[in-house]
Amino acid sequence: MKSQDFIIKVKKLSKIYKTDLLETTALDNVSFKIKKGEFVAIMGPSGSGKSTLMHILGALDKPTSGEYILDGEKVEKLTDDELSDIRNRKIGFVFQAFNLLPRTTTLKNVMIPMIYGGIPKEIRLKIAEKYLKMVGLGDRMQHTSNQISGGQQQRVAIARSLVMNPTLILADEPTGNIASHQAEEIMEIFQKLNDEGRTIVMITHEVDIAKHAKRIINIKDGKIFKDSPNHARKII
Ligand SMILES: Nc1ncnc2c1ncn2[C@@H]1O[C@H](COP(=O)(O)OP(=O)(O)O)[C@@H](O)[C@H]1O
Ligand SMILES: [Mg+2]
Repeated sequence: MKSQDFIIKVKKLSKIYKTDLLETTALDNVSFKIKKGEFVAIMGPSGSGKSTLMHILGALDKPTSGEYILDGEKVEKLTDDELSDIRNRKIGFVFQAFNLLPRTTTLKNVMIPMIYGGIPKEIRLKIAEKYLKMVGLGDRMQHTSNQISGGQQQRVAIARSLVMNPTLILADEPTGNIASHQAEEIMEIFQKLNDEGRTIVMITHEVDIAKHAKRIINIKDGKIFKDSPNHARKII
């Protein structure tokens, strides 16, 4: 296997949070690789280190020790400017709390990464419309994000995550704040994106959500204790 076939390579990653009184080992010597086109769920109970791992994978935070290679680039060597550029171009983020701008149309929300990415205005509009239609919100483009349901807000966030055509979609508890029938719709979209060849890394503590992935990595107390293909995958 060629090394460039891996979008993610982490080697002996540890993260220790230090406060005046306490040291917390949130990640303890974690190693794994993810190939392009995989659909991976990272599962574990609350406090197991999932969000810490997501922040490192998203180049939003750095490990205390260990190595992270994202699409062939050693993340610890990059400057802050290079990091924000990589985040904007290579990674589509989907968060539990959607992180949309309130009182702002869904169309404008979806265009934001392209404003940072320097994409011309007419092209921004076309691309934003395309992805809003793709997530089934072609009739909600002029609604503001507070005028639509939680599941719809998360679909807007997914459309926003796609506009720069990222190689990797990173989702942290994407269904944590929405009703279960809407959660299935979100998983259907992820499945479709993965069928189109996009790599998805999804963090969840819910078995019902993880079962849509093709591979499940289980973490507990900051350590991987199981990493295996999901033979019982649920296909919608
Ligand atoms: N900024 C921080 N400062 C200190 N401790 C933290 C910080 N963020 C997370 N932790 C601790 O690290 C551990 C892992 O947290 P987290 O990665 O948020 O887990 P999860 O997302 O699985 O719930 C927990 O014990 C948590 O309290
Ligand atoms: Mg978390």
